[in-house]
Amino acid sequence: MPDLDRPKEYWGTRLGVVFAVAGSAVGLGNFIRFPGLLAKHGGAFMIPYLIAFLLLGLPIVFTEWAIGRYGGRHGYNSPPGIFRIVGKKTNRFFSYLGMFGPLICITVFMFYVFVEAWCLGYAWKYLTNTMPSASSPNFVTDFANPFIGTQPGGNGSLFIDPLNNSLIFLVVCFALNFFLVYRGLSKGIEIFCKFALPTLIICAMIVVVRVLTLPANPDIPNANVMAGLGYMWNPDWEKLAKAQIWIDAAGQIFFSLSIGFGVIITYASYLKAKDDIALSALTAAAGNGFCEVVLGGLMVIPAAVVFLGPEFLQSDAVQSASNFHIGFIALPSVFEQMWAGRWFGFIFFILLFLAAATSSIAMLQPAIAFLEEALDIGRHASIAILLFITLVGTYFVVYYTENQLALETLDIWMSTVSIYMLATIEVLLFGWVMGIKKGHTELMHGAHIRLPKIIMFTLKYISPVYLIAVFGFWIWGDIFQDDELVQSITTSIPAQVVIGLILLTATFILLIITDAFRRWERRSTEGV
Ligand code: PHE
Repeated sequence: MPDLDRPKEYWGTRLGVVFAVAGSAVGLGNFIRFPGLLAKHGGAFMIPYLIAFLLLGLPIVFTEWAIGRYGGRHGYNSPPGIFRIVGKKTNRFFSYLGMFGPLICITVFMFYVFVEAWCLGYAWKYLTNTMPSASSPNFVTDFANPFIGTQPGGNGSLFIDPLNNSLIFLVVCFALNFFLVYRGLSKGIEIFCKFALPTLIICAMIVVVRVLTLPANPDIPNANVMAGLGYMWNPDWEKLAKAQIWIDAAGQIFFSLSIGFGVIITYASYLKAKDDIALSALTAAAGNGFCEVVLGGLMVIPAAVVFLGPEFLQSDAVQSASNFHIGFIALPSVFEQMWAGRWFGFIFFILLFLAAATSSIAMLQPAIAFLEEALDIGRHASIAILLFITLVGTYFVVYYTENQLALETLDIWMSTVSIYMLATIEVLLFGWVMGIKKGHTELMHGAHIRLPKIIMFTLKYISPVYLIAVFGFWIWGDIFQDDELVQSITTSIPAQVVIGLILLTATFILLIITDAFRRWERRSTEGV
């Protein structure tokens, strides 16, 4: 018996949800963040990455789908509401834990949409042939950096001439995102994903074929496609001793599969009670893996190695650039040297933009669902509130652009640390509170495939131990001993502003939950 009596939205078609989840998963993470991490860690990265996919990624994907559909059946669509149903209806604690869902989605959106705007901006410049020449030594300082305001003294610079930098594209991205969620689940998100996902995969394939057929570069030793692939696949075992590579790998798996955000939970909650989740979950996760390792892995690194040489990936510019920044400073010189590079540049950045857009709309949905069911308001009112909050947050990200400090602070605290925490909470909730027996039955309900029991065993014992161990080592090794992260909060104003922003949003969400909890409880008792 559902607790809430609001009209419920559903996906339009059975495949719609798979497209939407895969669309949320395939994003900047696959085509920029992943190659960026590969460039930093080299081939060793693939080992912790594949282990994290099997021991954390897949089990958590199943967890989110199962918890989500279960919560949806009880009339809830947001993590705080759903955690209460999965946990104990009378215990507020579970709803409070669920607050990480909307919190992470809202705060990650604040910077993700900005990077989305860079992609759109670059695509536009290639299309209109107004991209400055990347072979000029000043390309980065005169164009790439000012375009996103990252140069020294860049704070506030985007507002000076907004029509000539990424700000104008940000406005377009904001409008598109909110227009799509305003249209609703099946008329907005689903239709857009069904168009965008195949389009971007075709674009990616075109770029991959082009990259793989590139001849070796005669000017630089070892600058060929094979060396590029070797950079990714030849492990440097020594690197595995550092905790950072393990947390980066786990973080990338979470970020890329969109787990630990509450996004899949919300999406799955709009399924009908008997819809399959096991096969859908597997399809979406496999599709994302393909886009990341095959398409993402075969584009950026090999192309960069051919045109810029393997040494380039080891250079300071790359090693110190943020995970998202790399594609925007390195790739234009690649396209510049490529035959018909202007068009390949356009195809590449438009594919990035589409991938980013299907992801950013996914981040809005858990927050919309939360505001709707916690404040008991309609969809449009909740979208209006969300628009206000994200505009304020994004304003700070767009203001503090020097070295992208605001963006980086949000990226580290939200898309690495917090999603890690939420993923751990989910695993414990599913494996220990709901119980794997009930969990397995839930997963198998309406399933088109059978899942081996080992997945449930992994979920209950291996995933939590793995999560806690990696996190522990990371806190110990990287936070306490090399305390750059902590230092940035005590010394950098943008970092402080961003942390304040996160705390403010968290307080707002907590207060709403406190109030909503009573109503949810009342409805439960009346409904049963
Ligand atoms: N998975 C997306 C990416 O790879 C990021 C994302 C996370 C999108 C959570 C939506 C929700 O870029």
